[in-house]
Amino acid sequence: MDQASSLRKMVNKKASRMKKDRSKLNPSPGNPPRVISVTSGKGGVGKTNIVGNLAIALSRIGKKVLVLDADLGLANIDIIFGIHPEYNIGHVISGEKTLSEIIVKGPENIRIIPAGSGFVNLTHLTDGQKLALMSEFEALEDLLDIMLIDTSAGISRNVIYFNLAADDCIIVATSEPASLTDAYAMMKVMATQHGAKYFKLLVNMVCDEAEAKSVYLNLGQAIERFLKDVVIEYISYIPMDEFMKKAVKNRKAVIELYPDSASSRMIRKTAEQILGWPRRVDSEGNIKFFLKRYMDYRAG
Ligand SMILES: Nc1ncnc2c1ncn2[C@@H]1O[C@H](COP(=O)(O)OP(=O)(O)O)[C@@H](O)[C@H]1O
Ligand SMILES: [Mg+2]
Repeated sequence: MDQASSLRKMVNKKASRMKKDRSKLNPSPGNPPRVISVTSGKGGVGKTNIVGNLAIALSRIGKKVLVLDADLGLANIDIIFGIHPEYNIGHVISGEKTLSEIIVKGPENIRIIPAGSGFVNLTHLTDGQKLALMSEFEALEDLLDIMLIDTSAGISRNVIYFNLAADDCIIVATSEPASLTDAYAMMKVMATQHGAKYFKLLVNMVCDEAEAKSVYLNLGQAIERFLKDVVIEYISYIPMDEFMKKAVKNRKAVIELYPDSASSRMIRKTAEQILGWPRRVDSEGNIKFFLKRYMDYRAG
C-alpha cells in the first residue's frame, strides 16, 4: 500500500470512529459550558488538589465536569483521581486517537483530558487539522457543564494562553511571600502583555478567613497601584488542613476520604459559589471557541 492510501485509510477509520463517538452523545440544550482555569505562577500552592476536589464537589451537585489536566508536574491529578492515562492530547493531534478515545473517566463521573505536553504541538497544525480538532471539542459540548483546567507551575506562554482562553481565571495563592509575588507576576504579564482584566482569588492553606482577606488586601493593593485596569475579586479560601495532606498520601481527594473535614467544607462552599457566578459579557461560552481562542493566542 502506498503512503497516501494508508494515510487515507487511517483518516477514514478515525472519521468513522468519531461518528460513532458522537452518536453516543446525549444532547442537552441549555447553558453552554463554562471554562475555568486554575493557576498560580508558583507550584505547590494546591492547584491540583483544588481542581480535583472542586470537580468532585461540582459533580455531586449534579454538574457534568471535565478536567483538562495541563499540569506537566509529576504530582498531577492522576494521583488523587487514581487514574493512569495511556494517551494524551498529543495522540489526537498526531491523528492516532480521537478526542473521546483519550478521555479518561475519574471518580464520580468526572472526565479527564490528559493534555501532557501535547498542546504545545498545536502550532504545527494546518488550518484543516485545527478545524478538525475544534469540531472534536465541539462534540464534547453536550457532555459537560464545567471544564476546569489544572495548569502547570510557572508563567510559561502555554499556561498564560490557557488562562486567557478560559471564561474565568482563578488565581490560587497562599500567604507565603513567594506565592504572592508569583501570583502578582502572573497577573501582571497577563494584563500588560495581553490586556487581561479580571481575576478571581482563591486563598489556600491559611488559618482562617481573616488571614485569607489579608492576602487579598496585599495583592489588591499592589494591583491598585501598578495595574490600574485590573480587577481581582476575592472568592473564598481553603484552610490549611492535615486531612488534605493525609488524603494526598492515600492518593485520594480529601472530599472523598474526609468529607467532613474543614477543607472539604470550604471546597463545597466554593463550588456552590462558582455556580452562582454571572457569565462574562464578552465570553463566547463555548468549548470550541475556547480552543480557538487558545490556538489564536498561540499563533500570536
Ligand atoms: N489546604 C491544604 N491544607 C494542607 N495541605 C495542602 C492544602 N492544599 C494543598 N496542600 C498540600 O500541598 C501539596 C501541593 O499541592 P498541589 O495541589 O499538588 O499543588 P500545585 O498543583 O499547586 O503544585 C499537596 O501535596 C498537599 O498535601
Ligand atoms: Mg499541580
